[in-house]
Amino acid sequence: MCGIIGYIGNQQALPILLQGLRDLEYRGYDSAGIAVMDNGKLQRVRAVGKIDNLARKIKNDDYPGTLGISHTRWATHGGVTEENAHPHFAMNGKLALVHNGIIENYRELKEKLKGVKFNSETDSEVLAHFIGSYYTGDLVAAVRAALSLVCGTYGLLAVHTDHPDEMVAARLGSPLVLGIGENEYYAASDVTPMLAYTKRVTFLDDGEIAEIKRDSVRISNLHDQAIKKSVQEISWNKQQAEKQGFEHFTLKEIFDQPVVFEDAIRGRIDMPAGTAKLGGLDLSEDQMRQISRIVIVACGTAFNAGMVGKYAFERLAGIPTEVDVSSEFSYRDPIIDDHTLVFAISQSGETADTLMALREAKRKGAVVRGIVNSVGSTIAREVGAGTYIHAGPELAVASTKAFTNMVAILLLYAIQFGRLHNTSLATGQRLLKALLEIPQKINQVLKQVEQIKIKAQKYSKYKNFFYLGRGVNYPVALEGSLKLKELSYIHSEAYPGGEMKHGPGALISKDFAVLGIVTKNQLYDKMKSNIAEAVTRGARVIIVATEGDKVASEIADDVIFVPKTMELLEPLLNTIPLQLFAYYAAVELGTDVDRPRNLAKSVTVE
Ligand code: F6R
Repeated sequence: MCGIIGYIGNQQALPILLQGLRDLEYRGYDSAGIAVMDNGKLQRVRAVGKIDNLARKIKNDDYPGTLGISHTRWATHGGVTEENAHPHFAMNGKLALVHNGIIENYRELKEKLKGVKFNSETDSEVLAHFIGSYYTGDLVAAVRAALSLVCGTYGLLAVHTDHPDEMVAARLGSPLVLGIGENEYYAASDVTPMLAYTKRVTFLDDGEIAEIKRDSVRISNLHDQAIKKSVQEISWNKQQAEKQGFEHFTLKEIFDQPVVFEDAIRGRIDMPAGTAKLGGLDLSEDQMRQISRIVIVACGTAFNAGMVGKYAFERLAGIPTEVDVSSEFSYRDPIIDDHTLVFAISQSGETADTLMALREAKRKGAVVRGIVNSVGSTIAREVGAGTYIHAGPELAVASTKAFTNMVAILLLYAIQFGRLHNTSLATGQRLLKALLEIPQKINQVLKQVEQIKIKAQKYSKYKNFFYLGRGVNYPVALEGSLKLKELSYIHSEAYPGGEMKHGPGALISKDFAVLGIVTKNQLYDKMKSNIAEAVTRGARVIIVATEGDKVASEIADDVIFVPKTMELLEPLLNTIPLQLFAYYAAVELGTDVDRPRNLAKSVTVE
């Protein structure tokens, strides 16, 4: 949701900003703009729609200058128009601002700006003028003074023509990271647009303002007290953030899974002790034994991964576990005590709903830990401890590889807790060995890509789908169904197989498609019966079944086979064909697969 990239250094800013905006496209946006400073003048270009529209407006030597700010906008206040796109100007084009977040008291601020002519409907333009109204020759002082009266959230960059050697950044609630080069700095919403230039970054925290020069940066708070920040090395690289010959990021990220799964479990297995070693938990074995309840808070795909965690924690460790949609958790008076362990799961680490939920859990005294992909993200930093899932940059809006790695980490945690409770050494070791076999088994599933594609093309004509699964495959059904609706816009719902006869079954007819997960586990016979009911009612049925299972394949119209693994690990394999199925159905229907309509990658508003 909205993206910012700014540059100050000795290179031409425009190409860096334009490429940076392309790198931020995955966050979701509907317009974009750039302002570059040269010879005491700010030049601006903005366009509605894709970055290509913006690029078309720029001729070869346009917009010279080595200081610039730019933005991709996701409309909140005001429609999708060029006037509403950032950067916004104030002080007759001397001050430029890009802003992510929402200025809640913008009407009140606007009232104070008597006589100012506004050119857009945005809260951000009000903020630009408001900063301008405090300007008396010191840009950072004007930003500080204005922000101390602002209610709302911001990640912002400001520049002023009187200060050709300065860019000001500030953050409250909307992420901002500084990239450090040789006599140059980058400032962006996340690390993706700076991966090609530097790995050295500093994450701004809420309430911090950075005064960035070409060769130095001073970070302070709203009271102008200097703050010493650490510099971190990012392990992600530019190549990981490229399509690498795949048609879409979605497909590339599905195919990343065998490799990034290994990254998730590497160094985290203690085979002789039959357990996992996840130092990020930061609890002694005694403290772990005191945990009497686990609550998982997450949204969307991360929630579905959390559901797999519930089955694993309850089965292996006997610890009652509930999974809550973050936005519900925060507002329902959850029962929490200091023996409750709360896991906040998030790919982006910026999801506002999950951030609110973890803050609520902390307030109530829970032990809170993160399971996060984006290094240095807000959730990762607020929880203070937790585990990175090491899925690498996930740039397609729909989450794929992050799901698999979240499940991997949850299983490792469940084994670690399990070994302190009911899980035997032998079971621990069997689970770990099975985990080590997963990458090669994912590869086996991926090899069937052509067959899955043909099936997806065939089924893409259906307007309605039920995804059915039981036990640990119910979350798989949820995730497969979510992927189908996000990517292809086909209506789809997921249910536990046993629920059909309690209502939803009324919908089944010959116009319905049913996708069932019928792998060989303790609920296999029950799931087969649920599928048989759908067949009887005329649905077109496709199932995911265990390799070599002739019986299951006889009950369905179509089958996708997956290798056998231990039941708790099945989601790691069974989800993969469903990701491919959704992807190819979407390609067949011609949707914008990497950037589905109405969705953003990083949902930074509640
Ligand atoms: C689904 C999807 C979303 C996210 C959800 C949480 O494909 O991408 O449902 O899973 O918005 O996002 P994170 O994991 O970043 O907190």
